[in-house]
Amino acid sequence: MSEFAYRHLFRAGLPPIPPPAPAKPRILMNSGHNAPELIPCEKLAAAAERVIRREGTALARYFSGPRALGHEGLRRVLADMMRKTRGIDVGIERILVTSGSGQAIDLVDWLFLTPGDVVLVEEFTYHGAITRMRREGAELVPVAMDEEGIRVDALERQLEQLAARGVKPKFLYTIPTVQNPTGTVLSLARRRALVDLARRHALPIVEDDCYSDVFWGGEAPPALYALAPDQVIYISTLSKTFAPAVRLGYVVADPDVLQQIVQMKRDGGTGLLDQMIVAEYFAEHHDDHLAEIRARLHHKMKVTAETVRKEFGVSAEFTEPDGGIYLWVKLPEAVDGRSFAAAAAREGILYNIGQEWAADAEQGRNRIRLCFALTTEDEIREGVARIAQLCFEANGVPAFRDNVARERPPAA
Ligand SMILES: Cc1ncc(COP(=O)(O)O)c(C=O)c1O
Repeated sequence: MSEFAYRHLFRAGLPPIPPPAPAKPRILMNSGHNAPELIPCEKLAAAAERVIRREGTALARYFSGPRALGHEGLRRVLADMMRKTRGIDVGIERILVTSGSGQAIDLVDWLFLTPGDVVLVEEFTYHGAITRMRREGAELVPVAMDEEGIRVDALERQLEQLAARGVKPKFLYTIPTVQNPTGTVLSLARRRALVDLARRHALPIVEDDCYSDVFWGGEAPPALYALAPDQVIYISTLSKTFAPAVRLGYVVADPDVLQQIVQMKRDGGTGLLDQMIVAEYFAEHHDDHLAEIRARLHHKMKVTAETVRKEFGVSAEFTEPDGGIYLWVKLPEAVDGRSFAAAAAREGILYNIGQEWAADAEQGRNRIRLCFALTTEDEIREGVARIAQLCFEANGVPAFRDNVARERPPAA
């Protein structure tokens, strides 16, 4: 219990503090952590030594003023990455480095949103974006998706319905490539239709491109920003390409939009040491790094998919994604994904419930999201097996495991 005497003076509406986990987390298939075996510790240490000896004295200064957009070397690396894999060809004056793309989402929200504003989102979308936009008082209007991602016809219908109510949405927030949580990838034709529709309705697009480097499905379609730079503010991150704990994200937009955003970035600059080291590492290890993370995460996805098939049988529907770090699993209608979360947490096994990844929570009720990056293959097998058994104990499904009927444990 806190001894601080003035908690009652804290402002209203603060985010709730979750209860402590009932057991030490053992198998974390929740959140968006990365794979420990993919952190290139030795190469990173060498890069850190080199760059600190060469540029370390730069750490004496706040990272503000003309340097506020971020470390030049890192922005050159990012420009290079975007040219190679996303069809985005921009100079470094269009790139702002942020403290994770979470901060980038905050900054863009602050740029546009006041309470009561409407934002269009995919019906299933990133929990962190949902909570951030709601914290700014925005109303989120979901747009239906299919196996390819956001449906442009559904977006058009929503825009017409909103217009009939006299509502003009502030922007569309979308994750077109390896969507979180569904894993869908919007085709080039649909990307073109989407930016055309948005242009006709004068609708800005906030494109969150978190996972396009973690893609093993061949050549990814170009980013929306590459198709319509005047309509899109582009956000991405090194959290999935490299490591979430380095907290490096970025925004790509017009230089004057970036200058406006920089005025709201009150952190004295994103940590320079991280930027220097990561830039030094990627200047040498771009292609080999991406090849390695794609191969390894693809393999872990396969292990997870195979285990879900074995443990859940016909009770689980999912599509194997062409990238990313999640399996988005649909359970039978009657199952609430929350009904076995507490029992799993008591065993130290964590997964995400679908309600948190849906603009209309009810739509996510019978879905769960499994992150396969952090865990070992044995942990994936154990975690999914326990989740399936606990789901059975709470809901009676999946009734079989590998064609053998499941049994409930004897009553204690
Ligand atoms: C779609 C999406 N956007 C943004 C983020 C935030 O990432 P970070 O703040 O680590 O860059 C995540 C993290 O999982 C994500 O999935």
